Order: sequence, then C-alpha cells, then structure tokens
Amino acid sequence: MSSREEELLRRLDRKKIPRHIAVIMDGNGRWARQRGFPRLVGHTAGAKSVREIVRACGELGVHALTLYAFSTENWVRPAAEVKGLMKLLVRTLQREAEELERSGVRLRTIGDISALSQTVRDELGRVVGQLKDNRGLILNLALNYGGRQEILQAVRSLLRENVKQVDEDILSEHLDTAGLPDPDLLIRTSGEFRLSNFLLWQCAYTELYVTKTLWPDFRRVHLYEALLDYQTRERRFGGV
Ligand code: IPE
Ligand code: IPE
Ligand code: MG
Repeated sequence: MSSREEELLRRLDRKKIPRHIAVIMDGNGRWARQRGFPRLVGHTAGAKSVREIVRACGELGVHALTLYAFSTENWVRPAAEVKGLMKLLVRTLQREAEELERSGVRLRTIGDISALSQTVRDELGRVVGQLKDNRGLILNLALNYGGRQEILQAVRSLLRENVKQVDEDILSEHLDTAGLPDPDLLIRTSGEFRLSNFLLWQCAYTELYVTKTLWPDFRRVHLYEALLDYQTRERRFGGV
C-alpha cells in the first residue's frame, strides 16, 4: 500500500463508512482519446478500476456498491462499441468470479437485462448463482439501466397487481433496487455534473461527489478521498 493510501485510510472514520455507494463510471472514452487509442481501450482500462474499487469497498465493509455499467441511452453508440462493452463484461465476469467468490462478494443487477444477448445473460446468471451464498459486499451492476424506465416499470407492475394504495415503501419495493438501502454517496468521475438517468428515485437525499479524475485513473486513493469528503458532510434530511 502506498504511503498516501495509508495516510488517507488512517484518517477515515470507520464508523462513518457509507452503506451504499453508487458510481457513474465516466470518462473511459476521453481517457483513451488522450492517449490516441480507440474508445474500447478506455473501457478495458476501466475494468481495472472496477476491480480495485470492488476490493476496496469489500475491505471497508461497504454493504452495497452500485456501478453504472450501461445505460438505456448507451445503445445509440456505434454497434462495435456496444458489442465491445458486452464482450468486456463477459470476460470480466469470467476472470473475476473466483476472486469475487473468495472475497465474499454477492452479485446482482438492476436494469432490463432481458434486452442483453443470451451469452451475457448466461454468464451473469452463472456468476450470480456462484456467489449467491456469500455474505459480503453486494456488487450491483446497472445494465441497460435507466431511472425513468425503472420507475415506469414499477408503476406498471403496481397497476398489474391492482394495488390501490401506493406509498414510498411500496413503490421502492417495486424498483429493481428493492431491498437495498438508498445510496449514501454517489460518485461521478470525469467532471460531469449530471445524473444521466441514474437512480433518480433512490438519490433523493444522496450526497454527491464529482471528481475530474477519469474512470480508468480512479484508484483506491480517489475512493478514499471521496469517502473523506463524504465524512465532512452534514446530512440534514430537511432538518436543522
Ligand atoms: C463511461 O465512459 C463508460 C460507459 C458509458 C459505458 P464513456 O464511454 O462515457 O467515456 P466518455 O464520457 O466518452 O469519456
Ligand atoms: C453514464 O455515462 C452512463 C454510464 C456510466 C454507464 P454517459 O457517458 O453515457 O452519460 P452522458 O451521455 O455523458 O450523460
Ligand atoms: Mg461518458
């Protein structure tokens, strides 16, 4: 561990670790462009950041980590990029499953995965099954995920069930994130100040942290910096 990591880790209040961290992993394309590489090189480099952040969150005792991996809007990208992203997902799952199992990680997804290819769904199903008895970090992958679509889908299922009384809890239970606490902290890399249709309902009182660091450069130190910043926040939830 680098001395900077050690120093930041020492300053972290272990009693104030967020239960649920959500990340908009952005900037892969720009990272690649800066180096004169095709965009997919940036996505591949980003997979290394995923690995490190998942590990770090597991070690810190974070309950859930939600990663925005593919949005409902990302389908408009060139077909080769979409295909490359799906391939990368399958490869990463294959490569990381053993280590995830050893470190106690569970896997779940949010978003409409029925639109993903059979290969992707099979691999997801296999790894979700392999990790289902673990008790550590919940790694929640947002795949073909959109916040508005998720809310609509919840409303539709309430209508189908003929539910007459709806409150916040009932709606929450019909979202893909049912059973997860709302994110305490949302991190967005690459300096963009927008939600891009991510967890619209769930982020009502989430603390936001935006860093200029591009996702493929995002490492433990950057996570620790985000957590230290989060720990200085006063969460008032409308109170005084
Ligand atoms: C985020 O990086 C990864 C996905 C959206 C899948 P981008 O690919 O959006 O990178 P930029 O924003 O173009 O730099
Ligand atoms: C958000 O990033 C989606 C993911 C990180 C998967 P985008 O790069 O797609 O968002 P916009 O287009 O800049 O809003
Ligand atoms: Mg982007």
